[in-house]
Amino acid sequence: MLKVEGLHTEYVDERGHSVKAAHNVSFEVPEGKLFTLLGPSGCGKTTTLRSIAGLEKPVSGEVSVNGRVVYSSAKGIFVAPNKRNFGMVFQSYAIWPHMNVFQNAAFPLKVGSRKLGKGEVHEKVMRVLKAVGLDHLADREATKLSGGQQQRLALARALVMEPQLWLLDEPLSNLDAKLRERMRFELKRLQRDLNLTTVFVTHDQNEALALSHEIAVMNEGRIVQIGSPRDIYERPHNRFVADFVGSANFLDATVTAREEQRDYFVAQTALGPLKCYSVDPLQAGDKVVISLRPEDVHLSAAHPNMPNVWEAVVDSKIFLGDHVEFQVKIGDVVLLSRVHPSFFPADGTSVYLGMQPAKCLAIAAN
Ligand SMILES: Nc1ncnc2c1ncn2[C@@H]1O[C@H](COP(=O)(O)OP(=O)(O)O)[C@@H](O)[C@H]1O
Ligand SMILES: [Mg+2]
Repeated sequence: MLKVEGLHTEYVDERGHSVKAAHNVSFEVPEGKLFTLLGPSGCGKTTTLRSIAGLEKPVSGEVSVNGRVVYSSAKGIFVAPNKRNFGMVFQSYAIWPHMNVFQNAAFPLKVGSRKLGKGEVHEKVMRVLKAVGLDHLADREATKLSGGQQQRLALARALVMEPQLWLLDEPLSNLDAKLRERMRFELKRLQRDLNLTTVFVTHDQNEALALSHEIAVMNEGRIVQIGSPRDIYERPHNRFVADFVGSANFLDATVTAREEQRDYFVAQTALGPLKCYSVDPLQAGDKVVISLRPEDVHLSAAHPNMPNVWEAVVDSKIFLGDHVEFQVKIGDVVLLSRVHPSFFPADGTSVYLGMQPAKCLAIAAN
């Protein structure tokens, strides 16, 4: 298990000011789980990962793996990166061009402090090459591999030391979209089969939702929410998370009443009163923002049998193959809706718009 507690890391910028890149970052990754740091560019993901690896020296905090402390400001401990036994893969996975596949994967064993016999090196290297499906290409020059194969070689090289922790910094972002999706499955399989405790960094929400046991969403150096992919998507704690993970409609609102059913409320919005759901203990008068996913904005020609129904006008739409994205207007309010392509009314048509209260998530505004 990886434990990161109260990690602070700062940089000094060109003008000599200190920039806080990671603020009070704390999380735990149980043995064999994949934990993702997700957030926009510059939010502190790489800094956090490099601090865990020992490539940055934090100002304060503590990092331990399976009870072994590798960094602690309070205890004055800083274990050198090459003594931590962590495997790391960067976005720019440097493959050595003058070496073949076998030699690339064997490299960490050659530079490691422990001297291994030839037979042992061969066995370890072939085991990881087999795990990533490159064992049949062991003798090939590394430069003659495809992009996806080079990526798998980088993953294998970070595994050959049998690391206690696998640290991956946007390892798939140099691949084209199709290959990236395929590599996602391969990476997940590898992580699961080898039971690797992994910290994965990405700015890609789909990648995070697809791969993770747990996700930490970061903004401006801080973790703003930790949860399962489903939690993060369906129960965002604040507007930043709702906005960053998936697309969302937002309606500013004021709570006017509590419904009889627990956790349900009525809020006054620009559309009028709306039945909504919240896990926050809301009271009449509280300012909230209603977050609503486009796939939860239902459109139909006939009046649907649900609460929260309005008449709307189709403003524009985009056909995207498996679904259509609509912009509809209710007065001045524009909402985004995602529906099945079988529903395709002309622009300017009047339609009914319905929203299940359970999907109208009220988040306390702060
Ligand atoms: N070596 C550095 N020197 C000064 N500032 C840095 C350095 N590395 C990163 N930063 C700053 O720290 C912040 C976090 O950066 P980073 O951890 O790379 O973010 P991310 O990986 O989420 O894109 C940014 O504001 C970035 O400009
Ligand atoms: Mg980064």
